[in-house]
Amino acid sequence: MREVAGKTAFITGGASGIGLAMARSFSAAGMKVVIADIERAALDAVRSEFEASNAPLLAVHVDVTDRADMKAAADAAEARFGNVHVVCNNAGVVAAGRIDDMTYDDWDWVTSVNVGGVVNGVQTFVGRLKAHGEGGHIVNTASMAGHIVVPGLGVYTTTKFAVVGLSESMLPDLLAHNIGVSVLCPGVVDTRIFDSGRNRPERFQGGAGARDETVSGEEAEAVMARVRDSAIDPAPVGDMVLHAIPHPDIELMTDLRKREMSDAFARWRIYREERGI
Ligand SMILES: NC(=O)c1ccc[n+]([C@@H]2O[C@H](COP(=O)([O-])OP(=O)(O)OC[C@H]3O[C@@H](n4cnc5c(N)ncnc54)[C@H](O)[C@@H]3O)[C@@H](O)[C@H]2O)c1
Repeated sequence: MREVAGKTAFITGGASGIGLAMARSFSAAGMKVVIADIERAALDAVRSEFEASNAPLLAVHVDVTDRADMKAAADAAEARFGNVHVVCNNAGVVAAGRIDDMTYDDWDWVTSVNVGGVVNGVQTFVGRLKAHGEGGHIVNTASMAGHIVVPGLGVYTTTKFAVVGLSESMLPDLLAHNIGVSVLCPGVVDTRIFDSGRNRPERFQGGAGARDETVSGEEAEAVMARVRDSAIDPAPVGDMVLHAIPHPDIELMTDLRKREMSDAFARWRIYREERGI
């Protein structure tokens, strides 16, 4: 997409943190913005903020794990602003702790939001973007935890590797339809992600060993404390996403993948030479 001004963006998890930073950056660039989020009070706060500056915004209550919700939100977005061009599948949650401390509720909650939510965003919007044919862009929020393993974040890391895989797979499929794909992989950003338990639904809190706090255990607390200390402000992340939409760096993405693969082959060669196989 060459030009974003006047186009419409749909951002899940847009009422807080990185999603809200994207909403602000997109709005400042002249886009119409739809935020879709599960947290009603945060939606209200963003609504008031945008009303104060008369910037076009639709704030809708959505649980990204609910496909009917996503469809209804997409319909509402089109009814208000017409075609949607940029879709940011950004809502995400963390349940921190060692793998051996995780419950099925931890797994089900985090995978349903972080992977299922992105899948639902893709399924809801790809057909619509193809149908209007005006070009579009999908931004999936993964994380650096989609490339490297972060101790104490095994469940989260699993989901973010999946989002990187999904995003890279989408790219060649959608380019033919003039739909770009980016995968956002931030390091640590100062948001409310470490308080994800605030949005943990009742249905994922039942069962033996289930709990509602985000961080569990002393070790996980220590990891999270170190992680928090290195956090950056979300605003530049929103700007970087905006910049990536008209200038998708596909070459960088494929170069990185190629480099990783050639490093792996080099290590395989050394391994075989050492063992004479
Ligand atoms: N903050 C970081 O350090 C960091 C680093 C890398 C990646 N990320 C990713 O960035 C994305 C945004 O997170 P953030 O850091 O801004 O956290 P945040 O908690 O500030 O924002 C996440 C938003 O997602 C919403 N949300 C949660 N569950 C939802 C659901 N089921 N349906 C709809 N909305 C839901 C929350 O209400 C919240 O508004 C996530 O995917 C996260 O994994 C964050």
